Amino acid sequence: MIRFSNNVSLLRTSEIRDLMSLATRPDMISFAGGMPGNELFPTEEVDEIYNSLPLDLKRTAFQYGPTPGFPPLLGVLKEFLRAKGLPVDTNELLITTGSLQAINILAKVFIDPGDVVVTENPCFIGAISAFQSFQGHLHGIDIDADGVLLDPLKAFLAQSREKAPKFFYSTPNFHNPAGILYSEERKNGLIEVLKEHQLPLIEDDAYGDLYFDEGAARTARPMKATYDQELPICYTGSFSKILGPGFRLGWMLAPREVYEKCELIKQSDDACSPTFTQVLAYEFVRSGRIHPYVAKMRGIYKRRKDTMVAAIHRYFPEEIKWVEPRGGFYMWCACPPELDLMAVLRASIEKGAVFVIGKTFDPKGTDNSHFRLAYSHTPEDKLERGIQIIGEALKDALRK
Ligand SMILES: Cc1ncc(COP(=O)(O)O)c(C=O)c1O
Repeated sequence: MIRFSNNVSLLRTSEIRDLMSLATRPDMISFAGGMPGNELFPTEEVDEIYNSLPLDLKRTAFQYGPTPGFPPLLGVLKEFLRAKGLPVDTNELLITTGSLQAINILAKVFIDPGDVVVTENPCFIGAISAFQSFQGHLHGIDIDADGVLLDPLKAFLAQSREKAPKFFYSTPNFHNPAGILYSEERKNGLIEVLKEHQLPLIEDDAYGDLYFDEGAARTARPMKATYDQELPICYTGSFSKILGPGFRLGWMLAPREVYEKCELIKQSDDACSPTFTQVLAYEFVRSGRIHPYVAKMRGIYKRRKDTMVAAIHRYFPEEIKWVEPRGGFYMWCACPPELDLMAVLRASIEKGAVFVIGKTFDPKGTDNSHFRLAYSHTPEDKLERGIQIIGEALKDALRK
């Protein structure tokens, strides 16, 4: 007889998945996937990089590598992170197989069954699953346009003194799914609260480089860059959104004592992240190609966001509320609670446009009044038609 572990039995399957399988029509306009557009990848640059590698480096690329990462990549990545003000000399850097692995490793390092973990609500689904797979009990704190709400966070931490949570997980810059950027005040306030409770922070910065204006760039400064001395902060980042998710490369910058546990776990997890893509990423960063590429991506994502927002003004009913993103891939829409969002999704899919409903990103899985639009994957010429389809489905459902 097959008897599964408690860890895996706790993972949620979702009714949305069946619906999503209908959304694979080739002409479907997708606001669903949180990924870069296929046509945007730097394929020519990477061709050039691979073809000009010396033979011994090509051979190295095929081989296993050290668990912490390909040393030359660690070197250039440190400089990349130092430029963001991050304390790379007093912390340790670990290359991971996507930043999702960093989140999973941290979950394994911190969570015993039944431990409480505090997240934002909504929260990145990958983190929810990672924390639940180690039997963490998730408590989500609501957010607004400036970040996590501090009063409910304080109240929850005050009532949890008996059994203190293990950490707070946050995506302060261009949040997935909410698209928001924490204000400086909210970041400062959050750090004060966490300091008072000595609660470690996992700062997920997967989108921090994808800002749309200079003000947003300044506000997106990592909290770890400013507050490293005051609180244990494990900072994670990724090449997925600034080079390609297929590289499966992310990183974690963590205090030495946390890093040591993480490295041990990574040894048994996958021994090392792909050397092949680490060599390519190394050259991409070392040669400086990364900067013009990411600058170009910022421009493209901003134009996609602008086009989508213009279409939303035109086609969405006024009952739908949203905050204009200042970077990243996503916009989060709030609807009246009486709206049947599953019906809206079904109608949109029938007409040819798909998005993701909020329940997916709720640690408790109950949210029925939000949905996420990702504009990163959809070319500009399709965005307007897609928004028109969703807007009409929303209006029909609201008038019922
Ligand atoms: C907030 C956030 N963190 C982490 C990740 C994981 O990305 P990866 O494992 O590809 O680095 C994602 C991917 O969508 C994300 O949205």
